[in-house]
Amino acid sequence: PASSSAPTDMGGCPFDRSNTKAPNGCPVSAEAGNFDPFDTPYQLDPAEALRWSRDQEPVFWSPKLEYWVVSRYEDVKAVFRDNLTFSPSIALEKLTSAPPEAAKILEGYGYAMRRTMVNEDEPDHMERRRLLMDAFLPENLEKHEGWVRELVRDYMDRFIDKGRADLVGEMFREIPLTVALRFLGVPSEDAKELRKFSVAHTINTWGRPSPQQQLQIAEDVGQFWKTAQEILDRMRADPTGEGWMYDSIRMHETHPDIVPESYLRSMMMAILVAAHETTAFATANAFRTLLSNREAWNDICENPTLIPSAIEECLRVAGSVVAWRRIATEDTEVGGVKIPKGGKLLIVQASANRDPRHWENPDEIDIYRHNAAEHLTFGYGAHQCMGKNIARMEMRIILDEFVRRLPHMQLVENQTFEYLPNTSFRGPTSLWVEWEPAQNPERLTRSVLENPTHFHIGAPIKDDILRRVVVSEVAREADAVIRIDVVDPHRRELPDWSPGAHIELVSGKWRRYYSLCGERGDRSRLSFAILREPEGRGGSIYFHDTVKPGEVLHIAGPKNHFHLDETAARYTLIAGGIGITPILAMADRLKALGKPYTLHYCGAGRRTMAFLERVERDHGEALTVHAGDEGCRLDLPGVLAGLSEGEHVYSCGPERMLEALEALAVNWPEGTLHIEHFTARSSILDPENEHAFEAVLADSDLTVQVGNDQTLLEALTAAGVDVPSDCCEGLCGSCEVAVIEGDIEHRDLVLSRAEREASDRMMACCSRAKGKRLVLSL
Ligand code: HEM
Ligand code: FES
Repeated sequence: PASSSAPTDMGGCPFDRSNTKAPNGCPVSAEAGNFDPFDTPYQLDPAEALRWSRDQEPVFWSPKLEYWVVSRYEDVKAVFRDNLTFSPSIALEKLTSAPPEAAKILEGYGYAMRRTMVNEDEPDHMERRRLLMDAFLPENLEKHEGWVRELVRDYMDRFIDKGRADLVGEMFREIPLTVALRFLGVPSEDAKELRKFSVAHTINTWGRPSPQQQLQIAEDVGQFWKTAQEILDRMRADPTGEGWMYDSIRMHETHPDIVPESYLRSMMMAILVAAHETTAFATANAFRTLLSNREAWNDICENPTLIPSAIEECLRVAGSVVAWRRIATEDTEVGGVKIPKGGKLLIVQASANRDPRHWENPDEIDIYRHNAAEHLTFGYGAHQCMGKNIARMEMRIILDEFVRRLPHMQLVENQTFEYLPNTSFRGPTSLWVEWEPAQNPERLTRSVLENPTHFHIGAPIKDDILRRVVVSEVAREADAVIRIDVVDPHRRELPDWSPGAHIELVSGKWRRYYSLCGERGDRSRLSFAILREPEGRGGSIYFHDTVKPGEVLHIAGPKNHFHLDETAARYTLIAGGIGITPILAMADRLKALGKPYTLHYCGAGRRTMAFLERVERDHGEALTVHAGDEGCRLDLPGVLAGLSEGEHVYSCGPERMLEALEALAVNWPEGTLHIEHFTARSSILDPENEHAFEAVLADSDLTVQVGNDQTLLEALTAAGVDVPSDCCEGLCGSCEVAVIEGDIEHRDLVLSRAEREASDRMMACCSRAKGKRLVLSL
């Protein structure tokens, strides 16, 4: 990593001359030395405060905090993922230790909080997680939906006619606690007692409380501990009730070794803390984010099926858990930086969630973002939040009720938002909104309360994340090729995109990918081209025949699975036919960057070659046109023989051409050839010809049965394991899972031959087990 203020007289060392050294012996840079998570920049916007780190020094030692700070997506995920090397045991350790007087107070209450799941090591953690997971599974959460909605309505009824409310104080703090208590099965008369002590643990754990505050917190925590035991004793006297706490009590009866007595009380307290402020803050952040982006709010009011994707986008840009902690159990490395055994890590999810290496337009709020659910706000891996689908359900229902009943609500202007100073839990302490009660839709018609949106439990369904656009132009680009330009219906800017990106065009039963090929930087429109394919499945003909200017279409994306690595020394671009579209965007970019490139464009004849005029105008010097009817065919082996070292090849075109290219590139260094396929080789599952197998998930200690009529991806999703996916046809690489053991039948078009032979990863959406069993690192 290099520091922007790097002096040049240090023999190549990029860091400032400094007396401070990190525990690995490296000097500490000026930015790292100054970093203090309790300073205003991090408190206001942790992701922005760590932009320098993502860019220059993604893993650094903070002398003020005495932690290693990790800020990039891949690194944060890697730390979450490996809970053996990076133990979660310090996740709830007090950042500021308590004075002896506070410890005395707690002693007086016999306080003996033990580790509970989130900060437990293996193998204990997994044994318990597995036993106690049932109630959190999607199929067992559906039954809660009805009463959660009633609860939300009840709270809204209390202020709907007032015209003004503090949503945090009057609702968002209350609902998650009530939901958590009911989920636990705590009888309602006891819930009142617990409520009194469910104090802000935030400052206690992740803040810098004053000695006076420490004493008050100790008193409250002690009371909480005492009350929890009394309630638990009553529940245990008749352990037949319904709820997760009763499940745990019964587990204690049958498996006292795995769920011991001491565990029950700790777990009751821990789960209330885990479920309460996290969800309250996340809801407040989401409302603030959406109401400050009125167009997004309006889109949701018009189309509430967008709510799940909007909530994930809010969890990404304004999550309520912004940083988590781990401790290294051995000497290790993160992002190439050596971390000694015992090193404590602050892994900043808020920063990872805005890392441009993972996200397109990371700083923009886009409720149509197809992969927003890949945010790390719920953590990742073996300890990933067990309550994520409860939180999602609550947040979705709350938002659905508001966009129906108070679509005209606004943030009160000029209010100041206050945040409790701490490293990890983030949300405003109040959120004032106002509206004109006379305009409440339900005063005109009660029907707004009828037919609420039903949300499926789990990550958003990708088919729901569709952006409405209007066709502004349809132009003929060549024989059988049309270009379609689309704009936002309200003439707003459309998202930025990078070369190689595509959109999915959705209409009727059709869903097809098309690469973007317009002028990048022109945010007013998106352009793509469609080749009429009489031999295809019918989508291209349908679009050719029906799309007209003024028509409303739906698109998903932009997405990019064909990234241009801008660091190579030289490039050869090879386009066949309609494959020119992503290649043209790449050529434009390379030209703008001043990188050396050559471009080969092949087609049956000039009349069939789209954008030829533009390609000749803009890339004439780099261009060779291979028009079949002029007898000028592409000599692929000849072109490839002339490649120089470090040159990258990008190609898109007919399958035959890509297969030939792959065959010629078998022995090239990894990462030199980049190709984009547009059609899957086999996407339809034929149960008659498939066999069932089992997938053992090593990290989660779960075994999932995959039926002969199911994909591995479907089976994993049904078991509550979120695996990102996109194309579901083996084209994009989003659903890759690591394989530890077992023979794989690869059916994707993403992995190279060498990668297949290594047999250590597979695409869950289409590839299967050759035998009866696979062991996955999930
Ligand atoms: C763990 C975030 C709501 C129960 C976690 C972790 C995070 C988190 C970051 C640690 C993950 C890791 O180490 O990989 C959140 C956020 C929430 C939320 C942002 C709301 C938006 C809830 C709710 C419940 C819950 C509503 C329960 C009803 C748990 C439990 C764990 C956990 C039991 C421990 C899992 C384990 O270690 O195996 N949560 N949480 N959370 N959360 Fe949540
Ligand atoms: Fe695209 Fe599996 S989801 S390859």
